[in-house]
Order: sequence, then C-alpha cells, then structure tokens
Amino acid sequence: MAGSQNPVMANIDGEVVFERAVLDRYLESLKSLAISEIRKEVDSFRESISTKVTLDAPPGKNGLIGFDESTQTGGDFRVKHAILDRQLEQISGSRTEDRAIYYIERLRKYVSSDRKEGLDLNRWQDYDEIITDSFWNVESRDRSEMHDAGYWGNFVPLIPRQLMLRYTKPGDLVLEPFMGAGTTLFEAVSIDRNYLGVDIIGELVEKARAKVSGSMTKSKYFLYTGNSCETDFSSLLRENGFEASDLVIMHPPYHDIIHFTDDPRDLSNASSLDGFLLQFSRIAASCVSTLRPGGYLAAVIGDKYASGEWVPLGFLVMQELARTGLILKSIVVKNFNRTRGKRGQERLWRYRALAGGYYVFKHEYILVFRKPA
Ligand SMILES: C[S@@+](CC[C@H](N)C(=O)[O-])C[C@H]1O[C@@H](n2cnc3c(N)ncnc32)[C@H](O)[C@@H]1O
Repeated sequence: MAGSQNPVMANIDGEVVFERAVLDRYLESLKSLAISEIRKEVDSFRESISTKVTLDAPPGKNGLIGFDESTQTGGDFRVKHAILDRQLEQISGSRTEDRAIYYIERLRKYVSSDRKEGLDLNRWQDYDEIITDSFWNVESRDRSEMHDAGYWGNFVPLIPRQLMLRYTKPGDLVLEPFMGAGTTLFEAVSIDRNYLGVDIIGELVEKARAKVSGSMTKSKYFLYTGNSCETDFSSLLRENGFEASDLVIMHPPYHDIIHFTDDPRDLSNASSLDGFLLQFSRIAASCVSTLRPGGYLAAVIGDKYASGEWVPLGFLVMQELARTGLILKSIVVKNFNRTRGKRGQERLWRYRALAGGYYVFKHEYILVFRKPA
C-alpha cells in the first residue's frame, strides 16, 4: 500500500471507518506515485473498502484493522462507502498526475473536516437527501410518526423537512404563521430545530401539542391559537427568549379554495383577492421583521380558478413578498397530488378542462426568499 499501511479500519453497514491520521498519510503517499501506480493503488484500495467487516467490539483501539498506535491522533473518520468510492473512482479515472493530485487533495480536505452543524460545503457530497432541482415530484406523503394525512390542506412533510435541512441548523428557530395540523412542527422536532407556530384553529393547535408532547426531543416549541394578522411576531419571539427567527415558512390558504373556518379573520374567508393579499402581506411583514439578516423565508402556494380565469395566486403572493425587501432565490414547482376533493373525479376534471380551454392544476409553488445580509 503506497509505502503506508492499509488505512481501512472497518466497513460496517455501508459506512467505512478509518483512523483519520492513517488515512491522511496514505493519501499523501499516493501523491509521490506515477499515474499508473496511483490508479493501481487506488483500485486495490477501492476493493478493500468494499469488503464488509463486522466487529465484535465497536471500532476503536481494540477493533481496528491496520491500526498503528503511533498514529492515534485526530480520531475516527466515518464516511458512507458510496460517497468515498465515488471520490476514489475520480482519482483512479484521472488521466494525468496533476488531475489525480487535485482529487487526492480534495479528498484530504474532506477527510480533515468534521461535519459542522448545518450545511458544510467541504462535505457537500454527504447531502444526498437535499434536493437542489427546481421541480419536486413527490409521489406520496409520509404518514409515519405523528403525521396525519387526514387534515385537508396540509402539505407533505418533505417540504418543510427539505427547507429546514437546507436553510437551518440544529437549535435554529423556525417560525410558521399558518401552522395547520403541525406538519412543520413534527419535522422540526425530529431534527432538533426550535419552532414557533400560530393557527386560528385552536383545536388543531392543541391536537398538535398533544402529539408532540409525547416525543423525545431537544427542541423548544411554542404553539399559539390566534390571528396571525394581529400577531406581533417580534414581541412573541422575545417573550420566548428569541431575538430573531432563522427560517419562516408560510403556507397560507390558497385564498378561498378550502374554507378552513367561518371566522372572518381566516384568510380563506377574505371577501376579495385584494383583501386576501392585504392580510397575507401584513402577516408577511410581521414575520419578515423577525427574520435574521441572511435568513430565509419560503411560501408554499398554488393558483386557483375563478369565473373562468386562472388566478395566479402564486405570482401575486410572490410580488407581495418581494415588496418586503426580500430577495427571490428560487421558484420551485412541486407536482400536485390528488386532493381528497378531486379523488375519483379525474375524468370530470379532464372533461371540464377540455370544455373550458384550460389545464387542470398539477403543480404548486415553493417560493424561496432570502433577507439581505
Ligand atoms: C394551508 S393550511 C396550512 C397547513 C399546514 N402547512 C399543515 O401542513 O398542516 C392554512 C392554515 O392557515 C390557517 N389560517 C387561516 N387564516 C389564519 C389567520 N388569520 N391566522 C392564523 N392562521 C390562519 C388555517 O386555519 C389553516 O390551518
């Protein structure tokens, strides 16, 4: 092995474990080889990391393979086999020594950095779960744990999860002025984000509180029944010991498509589109005022039809948000799964679409904004 010992300690359930210093020395030693030798060496290394080893003892001094006492500095380094193999494949596929050394150095940097909380761009290859495309085709909703698809109007858990993984780190505060049945709350507590949510339907808030109170979590959560239009979110945060929010998620009613309550303060009862947008923009302004500079706001919204016209609610809401001074970062289009209301009525919708000259809604938007730093 390139004048150094085999740095592999173990491959356990798809994760390869190394003594960090040994691996670094091994990578460094590759740099003195000719390209043909680098390829040969790296190919045999790839083979050795794909051998699964089961240890009786956890990896550590007694469980090591190829462990050398003198190198016990820097601790263990764990990495998914697939991620490491991809990087090694790049090294062995290099045509020139310069290129191979470039990939070796990149891997050394990766090995030397511990994963920070939140996104660590030195280890960007680790984030397979995070979607970076602007079209999200979500097949089915997650009914696991606390999630309940029974509430008409909730979004798929993947939406808040993606947003929180991408734009927050553990301990950050997520603010949600339309919390509904608690989809964001349940995802937040499962990944150690703090959460503050408000909804006008007290029953929903209390049901969500009851569900989450049984979960083991480090997160702090603050749930309120109220009208977000009249809520001073900055004061509410301060009362709970927070100076600022790190991410705001807004999933308002899509105007009057679903009436959530008979309460006139409910945005789904706004008597006009302008009235809806006015209420929405008030809530947005109050939420934005809590957002730390550099923090993100995401609004999830679909369009609607009224009197034979496509009403671009998504674009109108986007304009309101842009007026608050936020910078638009992305318009994500998410496919729209059948709602309970439309289930079994595809043929009727298809007929109506053909007759009316329009297209049946199959998408909604996730509008991502950032507060200037
Ligand atoms: C589209 S749903 C949000 C669903 C949520 N994302 C979930 O997954 O459960 C919109 C929510 O806004 C709430 N709402 C409407 N007007 C409100 C207002 N003025 N203040 C607070 N909540 C309001 C409704 O009660 C409803 O639960």
